[in-house]
Amino acid sequence: MEKVLTFNQIDEFAKKLANYVEENTVIALIGELGTGKTTFTKTFAKEFGVKENLKSPTFNYVLEYLSGRMPLYHFDVYRLCNSEEIYEIGYEDYINNGGVALIEWANIILEDLPKEYIRIEFKYAEKENERLVDIKYIGNKEKEAKFNVDFGN
Ligand SMILES: Nc1ncnc2c1ncn2[C@@H]1O[C@H](COP(=O)(O)OP(=O)(O)OP(=O)(O)O)[C@@H](O)[C@H]1O
Ligand SMILES: [Mg+2]
Repeated sequence: MEKVLTFNQIDEFAKKLANYVEENTVIALIGELGTGKTTFTKTFAKEFGVKENLKSPTFNYVLEYLSGRMPLYHFDVYRLCNSEEIYEIGYEDYINNGGVALIEWANIILEDLPKEYIRIEFKYAEKENERLVDIKYIGNKEKEAKFNVDFGN
């Protein structure tokens, strides 16, 4: 579903999702520059139990955090030229490693996403402290239905 959410409501959603996700969940974060992908990841990570401050994973496209309730893999593929590069750094192992992966700019690797994932797209809204947020469970009708009930859609 697509809805206009305030920053506070987005933060609440990030926290709820942090407590909800199971192992091997991939969260695809999509949206133009400055729409809130990193902020979402930081709020999610803190609630997930990650103790470190998140840094920008520009160098190798991914940084991992092991202090939360499961491993957390923070990808940012903005600078990726060729999807081969993420396979070289072990993309498939990361996303199947019993943790949770959040991928900023996931639209760049749409064809490389797993069959099932949670898709979150941010768009600018009229007010500065709001975003149009599209949240969708992809790839499994049953889980999508449950997700929609659990997140009140
Ligand atoms: N949930 C939020 N609460 C408060 N401020 C926010 C929130 N989301 C976004 N912002 C504001 O928007 C700015 C940019 O957000 P952020 O860095 O998360 O965007 P991004 O999508 O990761 O951008 P980029 O594509 O450049 O990586 C933040 O510095 C903050 O001012
Ligand atoms: Mg960012």
